[in-house]
Amino acid sequence: MHRIYFLLLALSFCQWSFAKTFLIADRYLDVEKGHYVDSPVIVIEDDRILSMTGDIERRQNSDQVINLAGMTLLPGLVDSHVHIEGNQSLHGFEKLGQSDQAALLSGVSNARDMLTAGITTIRNLGSKNYGDIALRDAINDGIIDGPRIFAAGPPLGITGGHCDSTLLPHEFGLKSRGAADGPWEVAAKVRENIKYGSDVIKFCATGGVMSKGTEVGVQQYTLEEMEILVEEAHRRGKIVAAHAHGTAGIKSAILAGADSIEHASFIDSEGIRLAKRNGTYLSMDIYVTEYILGRGAEAGILEENLAKERTVGKIQRENFRKAVVAGVKMVMGTDAGIYPHRESPRQLSRMVQFGMTPIQALQSATINAATLLKEQENFGSLRSGKYADIIAVRGDPLTNVSLLEDVSFVMKAGTIYKTP
Ligand code: ARG
Repeated sequence: MHRIYFLLLALSFCQWSFAKTFLIADRYLDVEKGHYVDSPVIVIEDDRILSMTGDIERRQNSDQVINLAGMTLLPGLVDSHVHIEGNQSLHGFEKLGQSDQAALLSGVSNARDMLTAGITTIRNLGSKNYGDIALRDAINDGIIDGPRIFAAGPPLGITGGHCDSTLLPHEFGLKSRGAADGPWEVAAKVRENIKYGSDVIKFCATGGVMSKGTEVGVQQYTLEEMEILVEEAHRRGKIVAAHAHGTAGIKSAILAGADSIEHASFIDSEGIRLAKRNGTYLSMDIYVTEYILGRGAEAGILEENLAKERTVGKIQRENFRKAVVAGVKMVMGTDAGIYPHRESPRQLSRMVQFGMTPIQALQSATINAATLLKEQENFGSLRSGKYADIIAVRGDPLTNVSLLEDVSFVMKAGTIYKTP
């Protein structure tokens, strides 16, 4: 009995001795309810929000006060489709000369860029040799600065498909780590990825824009392969992201139970209906087309890939609008890595340009993304109990969402990475 009293006493002293942070600002955006709340006093203890309605008068001397008068607070952004090791100036054959170590070092600098741009969480959809998992762990261990990473590791795909290396001729015998054919090979590859730390399973359901020799609209995995992939991943508690541009591949991936469809460029009305019925998220990277067609040639993107992009970008944006009108669940996925990572928040204004309201665009980049990751209790909105992932902008992002392209303040899990 005495021991319990002693423990309680010790615990209460501990509580008092932890310094807290009081964060004040003009208002914050409640992304779940879709409106502003004026004059918040956010109390942060350790890495989490203790209260959204603190009393500044009751602070201790040791507590820190951050005054962001004139600013609007929002939850940290989530980009649901990133290649953190991507180097926007290394495309096509140039990329073959990059070692894993060099890619990882790009990842270190890209991670810092994304975080200071206000992106506090990313889902990394593909890393040739598990570099994203090393980056995730280094960030979690405080070795380097970066967003919280949910990592896929090597993406799965058919031999010769979009997720396999197709640049070199046969005598080099090059095969991507995630290449797998047939149901049991696919299941084994899912197990291998999980063994080495993948949080999410990414696979290529169709051809793609940036690969050589794949037809962007053509399905690659069979429905049977996709079904076993998803079943294996889900049984192990991992979500599944399907790269799919083509109409048939999109529908097969939805039917197989993928949690999100990446790109979804040629989705038709039946695909939209299926996504809605199954609660499948669409993650449509509608900003990147501007980079590929605008600056891609000088960045070394091959003509074959530019030509494919010319057949995709515009239709993808039209279909994005249709999916928004139909009310399909959406997350902001950008494919950052093809273009400079710090530009990722630019997609928000494109999402508004192509049919979303500003609050819908912001929800797709916060609470929707957290829900897709099954992490809505941990981040995605400003609420007590969640991680203190807080960003600030000057002005009214609900009238001008491009204000998110220039955030003044970034806090991730209670640590400040950028101040005005
Ligand atoms: N990683 C994708 C692919 O190669 C990028 C597609 C970019 N284009 C687009 N319009 N979203 O297929």
